[in-house]
Amino acid sequence: MVDKFHPKLNAPVDKQLMDTQGFECPRQLLEHIKEDLTPLLSLAQRPVVSANQFSREQLVQLARLAARYETQPQLITRPLTGKILVSAFYEPSTRTRLSFESAWHRLGGDIMSITDPASTGIAKGESLYDVGEMLNHYGDLVVLRDNDASAVYQMLESLRIPIINGGNGADEHPTQAMADIYALLKWRPSLCSAEVDPEQRIQIGIIGVPGRMRTVRSLLTFLSLFADAINEVLIISDEEQPFSEGQRETLEQAGLKLRVGTDLNKELPALDVVYINAIAWLGDNYEELGSRYRLDLSSPLKPDAIILHPLARGQELQRELDDTPHNWYFAQARGAVFMRMALLSSILKMFT
Ligand code: CP
Repeated sequence: MVDKFHPKLNAPVDKQLMDTQGFECPRQLLEHIKEDLTPLLSLAQRPVVSANQFSREQLVQLARLAARYETQPQLITRPLTGKILVSAFYEPSTRTRLSFESAWHRLGGDIMSITDPASTGIAKGESLYDVGEMLNHYGDLVVLRDNDASAVYQMLESLRIPIINGGNGADEHPTQAMADIYALLKWRPSLCSAEVDPEQRIQIGIIGVPGRMRTVRSLLTFLSLFADAINEVLIISDEEQPFSEGQRETLEQAGLKLRVGTDLNKELPALDVVYINAIAWLGDNYEELGSRYRLDLSSPLKPDAIILHPLARGQELQRELDDTPHNWYFAQARGAVFMRMALLSSILKMFT
């Protein structure tokens, strides 16, 4: 039965968090970073498959451009007018597909969307190589999501237009990690300074399995670029081998200080940033780990700690936290639109 007297029907929309995280914070970030488009020029017409392709300077300048798009939408011209995005999602998505499409629309372009592989020749055994060859003639850029980690590489073989990896199985999700970094820099702009004061360095907890979570894998790669701004990244997992082969060594060689813990509530009071995710991959299928660790109002969080989550969430992140200042996960999802706009306009070299 519909509740015609639901309190939300008569309440004004609470915009306080939105005003702070969606305007004040990006405005401060914009003031903090000196504009230099040079690092972005090398992204022109390039595919984006892995977080390993990016430098710290590129991330910082992408964040600056994203902050400009977020705070000054009136300055956005329509630089992608006449350009076509092929949005190919062979695995379900809410945020990645819709935020890429929103970003492309906001930049003035048109979109062709595939949301069901069964509606394409793939269902009849056509190869991704051949699909890629066709897409060269139909669009100007492809965003691909597939639960097979090799799919993006198969399509890359025949593509002569840029492709962006929108999540490939357990492997990577580089643009989600860009949204994570954008949220972190908006929250604490000093993290992108050339030298970060020791007292400004942060303690990050990641509740998840880096070896089996694509969002965490890409995020850790980006965090290693900011290693001097981070005291420690604590992985909270009860798995015996949370890292994939060589992953931990590579991150440590890049300067990231890593530790693994199992007791969430013991570790929480020392964490400035708590990143939680519960979707872990097993081959090309996934499992939800949401019953193992959980954040709710009784969690012993630092008063000013922020929570990030790539979403979709399950039991691991309780809705009662949504109306608290710990909630940066919605700002993180919102910021993904602007970070993707920054990336798209850099790849197509159409800064607005
Ligand atoms: N964060 C993320 O990848 O969400 P979707 O699966 O909804 O795209």
